[in-house]
Amino acid sequence: MSVNDNLLEVKNLTTEFRTDNGMLTAVDAVDFSIGEGETVCIVGESGSGKTVATESITGLVKEPPGKVSGTVELEGKDLQSMNKKELRQVRGDNIAHIFQNPQEAMNHCYSIGWQITEALQVHQDVPDDEARKRGIDLLERVGLANASARFDDYPHELSGGQKQRAMIAMALVGNPDLLIADEPTTALDVTVQAQILKLLNELQEDYGMSILFVTHDLGVVAEIADRVVVMYAGKVMERGDVFDIFEEPSHPYTQALMECIPDKGRETDGIPGTLPNPYNTPDGCRFAPRCDHANEDCTIGDQPEEIEIERNHEVSCVYYQSGYDSSVVRDSELESDSSSTEMGATDD
Ligand SMILES: Nc1ncnc2c1ncn2[C@@H]1O[C@H](COP(=O)(O)OP(=O)(O)O)[C@@H](O)[C@H]1O
Ligand code: SF4
Ligand SMILES: [Mg+2]
Repeated sequence: MSVNDNLLEVKNLTTEFRTDNGMLTAVDAVDFSIGEGETVCIVGESGSGKTVATESITGLVKEPPGKVSGTVELEGKDLQSMNKKELRQVRGDNIAHIFQNPQEAMNHCYSIGWQITEALQVHQDVPDDEARKRGIDLLERVGLANASARFDDYPHELSGGQKQRAMIAMALVGNPDLLIADEPTTALDVTVQAQILKLLNELQEDYGMSILFVTHDLGVVAEIADRVVVMYAGKVMERGDVFDIFEEPSHPYTQALMECIPDKGRETDGIPGTLPNPYNTPDGCRFAPRCDHANEDCTIGDQPEEIEIERNHEVSCVYYQSGYDSSVVRDSELESDSSSTEMGATDD
């Protein structure tokens, strides 16, 4: 796909927060793009800047204390230069957002049917009975059993999985070009999680929309992504087609995330160590304090430039720079290969 086919083009996206403890850079000069009908996953541990990055795209970061810079283009239109009203229009017509916790994103005072038809009627001039019919059709489409009876239910009458389905229906009501799904399955048990991922895949085929999917779990990425952006401490560590990322995870951080996939009954406590202090990120590679391969070149200057190691597969690690032997980091991936998840394996 050529660059011109991209639906969304994000360049040099940087989001800082002014806080009582000083300036914090949550997203630091991040670039990525999403093609039409494509699913791009941003993956990284909690605190990596995934939510802030996605909310910066659609103007959901409160400024101040936030400050967002860089360019975000949707079909060539610069969202950063739009005023609040224009952005609201884009959020209604072009980009829909679903969140980790539908509990927080829904209004508890109104029935789900009311909320869906409201979302529809804000953007389209549809009479009430037609809106109700379309709302019920959508709830059926997202797999809510007995949709016409559930239409008038209040959020507290639905289970977690049913609420997330209703949220997806609400997001789809405006027929968005891009669906941003921020950890939409994290609060759900694995069986419901698998159902929701399957649903999103089906809906994408039916509606032809693009999806920006955010998760901390590489296992989920395998189920849904076309392309993957691995983020750590506000920076991109590795990016590539999903197949390449799983076949050849090349950044030590991606390899560490691979080890954390909860598959085959293997217990894991996550990656040893913690993210760097966001107020005072280390020089050089941000992963250096936790990386077994770190050497002194890893702790000077900025995060290493991303280097293309094969087509569309880029890695930000000094071992891929000229003069280095990249097999040092590639080999650790081979060691973990025997125990890592196979592509497409499901949790249920
Ligand atoms: N409103 C805010 N004010 C200050 N810091 C924030 C705010 N929102 C997020 N952050 C910080 O930005 C960083 C990235 O957060 P976030 O995007 O939520 O991470 P993720 O979604 O990857 O778990 C974290 O250090 C977080 O504490
Ligand atoms: S640049 Fe250095 S610290 Fe960073 S991932 Fe590569 S080897 Fe590890
Ligand atoms: Mg988040």
